[in-house]
Amino acid sequence: MYKLVAFDAYGTLFDVYSISELAEAIFPGHGQALALMWRDRQIEYTRLVTMSDPRPGGSEYYLPFWDLTIRALRYTCRRLGLTLSPADEARLMAQYGCLAAFPDGLAVLAALKAKGVQTAILSNGNSAMLASSVASSGLGGLLDQIVSVDQVRAFKTAPQTYQLLLDAFTLERSDILFVSSNAWDAVGATWFGLDVFWVNRLRHPFEEIGLPPRYQGASLSALLDIFDDKSNAQGAT
Ligand code: LAC
Repeated sequence: MYKLVAFDAYGTLFDVYSISELAEAIFPGHGQALALMWRDRQIEYTRLVTMSDPRPGGSEYYLPFWDLTIRALRYTCRRLGLTLSPADEARLMAQYGCLAAFPDGLAVLAALKAKGVQTAILSNGNSAMLASSVASSGLGGLLDQIVSVDQVRAFKTAPQTYQLLLDAFTLERSDILFVSSNAWDAVGATWFGLDVFWVNRLRHPFEEIGLPPRYQGASLSALLDIFDDKSNAQGAT
C-alpha cells in the first residue's frame, strides 16, 4: 500500500472557484472567460519558461508561480480588452492567498493520517503562496510536507519536479500515490512512473496522449476506496 499521498494544490485541494466569482464581480459578464484564459495562460507560461531552458539546475527564465500568475492576469485582461486597475489586480491575486479547501479535503487528509499514510502537496506554487493557502484552508496540521517546485526552478511536468517527492520523503516511486485534478499533471506524473488518482469532478474525458491514470474518481473522497480495497475508484483502463 502507498506510504505517501501527494496532492496537487490549485484546483485539486484548493477550490479556485472564488477567483472566477471575484473576476465576475469586478468584470461583470467576463468572469468565466477571464478565469479560464488566466489559468490557461498561467500554465502556458510555466511551460514556456521550463521548456526554453530545461537544464537540470533550473531554467534561467524561471519566475515564481506568483509572478507568472500576475503576468498571466495582465495579459488576459489586455487580450479581453479589460482595464485592470492596480487595486483589482491586488484583490484578484489576494484571492490566491485565501482559498478554501474542497469540502472533502479535510476529511480525506485526516483519514489518510489515521491510517498512517503520509501526506504532502507537490505544487507549481511558490512556498509563500502555498503557505498562505494552506493556512486559509485549514489543512496545515494534516500535511507532512509542502513541496514547491521553486527548489528546482522548473514547473510540472518536468521530471525533476516529481522527483522532489522521492527526495523529500526518501521513498520509491511505487510508495507514492499522486493526486491531481489536472489531466496534464496526471499524464506527467504517470510518465514519471507514479500511480495517479485523477480527480475528475467535471467528468471530462481524459487526454488523448499519455497513459490513463491508474485511478480516477469524481471527488477526493473517492480515493479513500483505494485504501479500503473497494473498487469504486475505477481504474481508467
Ligand atoms: C499546482 C497547479 C498546477 O498546484 O495546480 O501545481
